[in-house]
Amino acid sequence: MVGICNERYVAMEVEKMEPVLPQMKRTVDLMREQNIKVVTGRWLIEGYPKVVLFDLDSAWDKYNSWSWELFDKTGIGIPDHDNETKRCVLFGFLTAWFLGEFRAQCGKKSVIIGHFHEWLGVGLLMCRMREIDISTIFTTHATLLGRYLCAANVDFYNNLDKFKVDIEAGNRQIYHRYCMERAATHSAHVFTTVSDITALEAQHLLKRKPDLILPNGLSIKNTQCMHEFQNLHAIAKEKIHNFVRGHFYGHFDLNLDKTLYMFIAGRYEYSNKGADLYIEAMSRLNHRLKVGGGEVTVVAFLIFPASTNNFNVESLKGQAVVKQLKETVDVIKDDIGHKLFDLCLRGKLPNEEQLLDRDHVIKLKRCMYANQCSSLPPIVTHNMTDDANDPILKQIRECNLFNARSDRVKLIFHPEFLSQTSPLISMDYDEFVRGCHLGVFPSYYEPWGYTPAECAIKGIPSVTSNLSGFGCFMQSHLSDPEAYGIYIIDRRFKSQDPAFKWLSRSYLYHFCRMTRRERIIQRNRTERLSEFLDWSRLGMYYTNARRLAIDRTHPEFLETTRSFSPTGSVRLPRPYSAPSSPFGSRIASPCPSDAEEDNKVFDEDDGDSGLHTSNLVSTDTESMMS
Ligand code: UDP
Ligand code: G6P
Repeated sequence: MVGICNERYVAMEVEKMEPVLPQMKRTVDLMREQNIKVVTGRWLIEGYPKVVLFDLDSAWDKYNSWSWELFDKTGIGIPDHDNETKRCVLFGFLTAWFLGEFRAQCGKKSVIIGHFHEWLGVGLLMCRMREIDISTIFTTHATLLGRYLCAANVDFYNNLDKFKVDIEAGNRQIYHRYCMERAATHSAHVFTTVSDITALEAQHLLKRKPDLILPNGLSIKNTQCMHEFQNLHAIAKEKIHNFVRGHFYGHFDLNLDKTLYMFIAGRYEYSNKGADLYIEAMSRLNHRLKVGGGEVTVVAFLIFPASTNNFNVESLKGQAVVKQLKETVDVIKDDIGHKLFDLCLRGKLPNEEQLLDRDHVIKLKRCMYANQCSSLPPIVTHNMTDDANDPILKQIRECNLFNARSDRVKLIFHPEFLSQTSPLISMDYDEFVRGCHLGVFPSYYEPWGYTPAECAIKGIPSVTSNLSGFGCFMQSHLSDPEAYGIYIIDRRFKSQDPAFKWLSRSYLYHFCRMTRRERIIQRNRTERLSEFLDWSRLGMYYTNARRLAIDRTHPEFLETTRSFSPTGSVRLPRPYSAPSSPFGSRIASPCPSDAEEDNKVFDEDDGDSGLHTSNLVSTDTESMMS
């Protein structure tokens, strides 16, 4: 892996060592002889990859001649004020230099493939301009212009073919960056992207149809026994319960056994991530749950890092007060236990007064009075820097969702990524996801979207959209995504009303009416997707891209001629255990009474009666490779 050397991170994350391969060692030494600082070693992450890192500061003296060469060969000029792009140019030229040198060291006997990601395609461009014999792959994970256009809230997908790309890029002062990305796209031997939806975007905005789609995978460690993830869910949920007890102190009217935890998370891009849809859908769900009169309460979290001045006092106080109450109760519980044991030993059956003495009552009353709170439980856990203009808080105010006692949906905005060391939700994100019931990610602009995939591998169902790469991938690879706990809402049109209806009425409300048993069965089905999302399978798309690059540059190196299909054609059938009636028809069926829920007889097994992964895997692998 070739990257930029950032001393601060290198010190913590890289184990420095010299390259073993003589050609690599010679290449690095040659660059060092020209005063370029190059760090080589292994990155201390899973997989322990080898890295070559360039210190950009050691190459600034070459910037003028390189930017001139870029302009001379491609006509792309870099504005003097754009330091980020200037650094991209340095990195690109260093990479091309490194690859050129390495090519020369290796001789003609081997093929070298350079895989370049994102819009930093200068390295690729220069390899091609200097006619270095490197087979190149360019993968865009989102287009630069697409991100800008979506952030401006335009009806992006219905106007994709109408955008005047040069003018749009020029208006946003990113024309030079756009040109670099487009030039790399067209210079690459193989052009790829991460999803069908981004392929469509690239085709219109970068004017080249990707040759292949390379979906993003996850590194999955399935060391747990079959139902371990269910136990982990229960343990993590208990931790969320603890936080919720503190957060709602003084207003604790929730039946935690009937409380569902839903959440949305990711980078804070309000409309791109569908936070607008989430809040509106929660407001509608609140209304339906109130009208429906059941006991279910939904606690809906929003986790987006925003600018804050630390935690707010109310949130901290709630946790402290509840902790104090818990400790007091524990002490009294021990006291009572000892007394009870003592009295029973003497053959006396104690009455209430003998167990709970005056001192206990005073201590409990003190804690309970401290537990009284007149203001409503906070919506946001931190002090926001710009509370009045924050788009999430503005919308929550408009929807009148203030965590009132009567509300069946309670909102909690945590404007910081989660951390185990936090005094509020003391869990890391992975654990938090496990403890929740449903992830809701109704994104408008989401080239891939790791959050729903991360839910799936933990067995947590999620809502995604047909504008997210993950949603498209699931739609094209699962015969019945809903049966696997993947709910895909249609957001093709900017008009949001149908999407609101689907989300709140069909998906969220339906989810709230599921029994515990149904949720457990659904989690089992969702978790079966994890093998499907593992890099050990999806990595084959990368292998395919490399084969295609060799095929286009050095076909003589391939032993057999192969056909390359632009997308995999694997489709997982419905799980055998899924109910036979389609999801849509179940929504209208009457809600079961509590007694019915408890006695419900299931004709399906939540064990291994569903998807037989091993069979699918082989079909899957075969089709992916073909
Ligand atoms: N995430 C995290 N901590 C949190 C919330 C989210 O580390 O408290 C991570 C999450 O695991 C996911 C990433 O943020 O990998 C969001 O990625 P995604 O592809 O969904 O969207 P992006 O934010 O990259 O657009
Ligand atoms: C897991 C645990 C069960 C627990 C259940 C709660 O399946 O193994 O012991 O009852 O989670 O499920 P729920 O959907 O209500 O959080």
